[in-house]
Amino acid sequence: MKAVRIHAYGGPEMLRYEDAPLPQLNPDDLLIRVRAAAINPVDWKIRAGYLQGFLNHPLPLTLGWDVSGEVIEAGPEVTRFKPGDAVYTRPNIERDGGYAEYIAVKASEAALKPAKLDHDHAAAVPLAALTAWQALIDVAQLQSGQTVLIHAAAGGVGSFAVQLAKVRGAKVIATASAVNVGLVMALGADEFVDYTRTRFEDVAKEVDVVFDTIGGETQERSWSVLKPGGILVSVVSPPPETIAAEQGVRSAFVFVQPSGSQLDAITRLIDEGRMKPILHTVLPLHEARQAQVISQGGHVRGKIVLHVAD
Ligand SMILES: NC(=O)c1ccc[n+]([C@@H]2O[C@H](COP(=O)([O-])OP(=O)(O)OC[C@H]3O[C@@H](n4cnc5c(N)ncnc54)[C@H](OP(=O)(O)O)[C@@H]3O)[C@@H](O)[C@H]2O)c1
Repeated sequence: MKAVRIHAYGGPEMLRYEDAPLPQLNPDDLLIRVRAAAINPVDWKIRAGYLQGFLNHPLPLTLGWDVSGEVIEAGPEVTRFKPGDAVYTRPNIERDGGYAEYIAVKASEAALKPAKLDHDHAAAVPLAALTAWQALIDVAQLQSGQTVLIHAAAGGVGSFAVQLAKVRGAKVIATASAVNVGLVMALGADEFVDYTRTRFEDVAKEVDVVFDTIGGETQERSWSVLKPGGILVSVVSPPPETIAAEQGVRSAFVFVQPSGSQLDAITRLIDEGRMKPILHTVLPLHEARQAQVISQGGHVRGKIVLHVAD
């Protein structure tokens, strides 16, 4: 099969579109014919070697952990899916990924894809929507009537977070640059902060939850907008617990985990018309290098998708 792999860590030039062996199937796996795979910042962070201390990848490695496609074969222990099912998944990041014509994933990490979406749009959902779900619902336990500040609301994770927070009945204050005001308000945000012109602390006060998708100075400045007992959830860098304690608030770091059952719930929200992916652009598989360069630029609106097969 064709795949985009790395044989060593480094820049975008390390990505090679090449022949690769078909994935090996475990008894509880699905073999999926990939129709589309989405790009996430973790892809180029892994390519660059930033996560070497954290993940133990053998090389060569196929990148990309956001996939939509069709089940070709189900292992003998799989009861939920059958060949021909259209599924989507954010699989285990320790295995070969989805910049490829085929991928093997644990059946428990997959769900039937939303009927409303074609494969290009479906591939844009799992990783970012699961991240928003696990941060806002599992960890922050966002409730109706609460206020949440969502940083980078026009990005992959942020665009799902805004929609999910509205499904929960929360008030959303969203940050992005001016070019994205229309998009973010259309997703349901109640207030928009153009972070290039306005300090978000001047607008957001006494919020229940901060969702930090930026880290660094943005995280440091975010403590002051929380009400006592509020929570800062980061998906970029673990917020220091000592600062949380000093401020009388809580903090958490989330690293997204695969979950077929949460994807089932996300499928329902999408098919009910309550959530949707935003596509920045769709490129062919062999342009994965270009796709990662765009992602690394830091100003993607929604998601970049690699179209793998019709
Ligand atoms: N821990 C986990 O499990 C996990 C899971 C998913 C993602 N992540 C991490 O979370 C981060 C976000 O991921 P993503 O997929 O959402 O990234 P992304 O789609 O590449 O984010 C791009 C967005 O960031 C916005 N942005 C850039 N600088 C900003 C700032 N200072 N304030 C507000 N918005 C800003 C841009 O808006 P403008 O163009 O308007 O500036 C753009 O829309 C990445 O670092 C990623 O690795 C972690």
